[in-house]
Amino acid sequence: MKHYNAPMCGIFGYVGTRKDSTKMAVDGLKSLEYRGYDSWGVAWKDGDHLSSQKEIGKISTVDGSKLSDNSSLVIGHTRWATHGGVTVENAHPQFNEEKTIAVVHNGIFENYQELRDELKAKGHVFTSETDTEVAPHLIEEYMKETQDFAQAVRLACKRFSGRYAIVAVYSKADTMVAARTGSPLIVGVEKEGSDVIGYFVASDTPAFMAHTRTVQYLDDGEMLVTNGKSILFSSIETGEEVAKREIEIEWSEERANKGNFEHYMLKEIMDQKESVAWAVNQNDDEIETVAQAIRDAKGTFLVGCGTAGKACMAAEYFFSVVSDRHVNFAPGSEFKLYHHFLKTESLLIVISQSGETADVLEAMNIAKSKGAKVLSIVNVKGSSIDRASDYTLHINAGPERAVASTKALTGQLAVLLLIAYALAGKLQEGKKLLLETAAQINDMLNPRYIDRLKQLADIIKQKEDLYIIGKSWNYPMALESAIKIQEVSYIHAEGFAAGELKHGPIALIEEGTPCIVLVGKDEVMPDILSNAVQLKARGGFIIGVSPEKNEIFDEWIKVPEAGAAQAIVNIIPIQVLAYFLAVQRGKDPDMPRNLAKSVTVK
Ligand code: F6R
Repeated sequence: MKHYNAPMCGIFGYVGTRKDSTKMAVDGLKSLEYRGYDSWGVAWKDGDHLSSQKEIGKISTVDGSKLSDNSSLVIGHTRWATHGGVTVENAHPQFNEEKTIAVVHNGIFENYQELRDELKAKGHVFTSETDTEVAPHLIEEYMKETQDFAQAVRLACKRFSGRYAIVAVYSKADTMVAARTGSPLIVGVEKEGSDVIGYFVASDTPAFMAHTRTVQYLDDGEMLVTNGKSILFSSIETGEEVAKREIEIEWSEERANKGNFEHYMLKEIMDQKESVAWAVNQNDDEIETVAQAIRDAKGTFLVGCGTAGKACMAAEYFFSVVSDRHVNFAPGSEFKLYHHFLKTESLLIVISQSGETADVLEAMNIAKSKGAKVLSIVNVKGSSIDRASDYTLHINAGPERAVASTKALTGQLAVLLLIAYALAGKLQEGKKLLLETAAQINDMLNPRYIDRLKQLADIIKQKEDLYIIGKSWNYPMALESAIKIQEVSYIHAEGFAAGELKHGPIALIEEGTPCIVLVGKDEVMPDILSNAVQLKARGGFIIGVSPEKNEIFDEWIKVPEAGAAQAIVNIIPIQVLAYFLAVQRGKDPDMPRNLAKSVTVK
């Protein structure tokens, strides 16, 4: 079956007293563009009808004030499609035939084919290939029964299966209706004194951070209806009202913006001058509680995806070396079969920047169904993973907007290492090491260092293959280095456990093949240097990332000596190198092809 959908997208909605809502929508969508950037669209209430603009490509250069200067109700969307054409017809909002109902959608209606057939049989005509388009048609059908827009949206939502978030508007009502099951939607409350003057809904907070930092969270299975002055939250299933708290978010707009940097990726790499220290700044009692939970657990599992998964792998080494404890890592998508080992006394530690990754949420559900406890280490406060966990530690990295994860990884590593030290009864020692490391990172990321990496990128940018090796905690960092280089520069990069080379991969090395060797001043240093010699003997161009110079290095990238925190410092120059490889190959590092920031589908 063909499957057309828009699984990782950015949603924005506003209703209130402002008249420049299309400008706010376009600006808000620009900050959500990391979630999807193949097409965009906006629909706004224009008197008693809906006007819209949809286009293919990025929204970055669009001026939203040109769309309308007199609308107070708007919805908008940036799309990222895994299947189906990138066309104006497939861009959101999607409409019913009369264009009286508009819907933006993130996620998948898994039963859309069946609903589409049912609606076609009733005479509805479809103009796109999306699953989303069933929503406005289905809502129109229910309007015939109830006359009430919010009620019609609720009845339509009860028919959808899958994980989704939608926002819908109707040309004859001054209200916005939103619902979610699985995909994030956050409400922003704009106030003048104590009076509410507008409500925002968005997939992520930076979309409305310029206007308000007061938020309310819509949870799975809930919907809301708002006219810009008041808001009503209710259960999709029963229609019963749900009470919500207002929460103030702490991240400042400045921390979410690019500042003077050309790209978010470089800005976020440079944020690591401070963000490692922000991650270390945890409450001692909370870290000790978590350490105790690990001691008490009968089996601890670490779960994460992609880069966060590499943090988990590094933590296996932290726990083994620092605290003599065995923990098991599985990528979120592979966790399902581990359920045989789960008991009520098991502990699942999940790592996620966004807190919205579907594979991780599924692993949590599996663990919870067995009665196990879940500890999460997340960046985005109030995210689905954060709220569904028994304990959460935040890495406090501030918004990470570039698709490639950088500062979130080092924050995750710092918190995991802190826990390992706490488990060994040495929390203060761990804190001291990490704060010293944070200061060393601050020194390391100076303009001369960055320029040195820029020059190195220039030397290797034409190469089509690149290999990275590491041992111990530098092995997951070798895997992570490969992810970073692949995703932004599109160079074929692969990471290996250094000792595995001689079992096969060494056959790939030719004269001049760049080989990055991640080294620490530790017990495995002689071994990895001897593996590097083997690469050099086959013609490898050896780039040593190491606290110490060595004659086998063709290029030496100096890193501070950081003991058990070596993985944190060693990955940073590779992030910078990946960034310059992308830029020098003419690629946009912030928006790599085929990828989106939050992976909210399985
Ligand atoms: C790569 C990258 C991804 C994410 C992964 C998990 O640079 O960012 O591999 O690490 O998709 O995302 P989170 O951490 O949001 O769960």
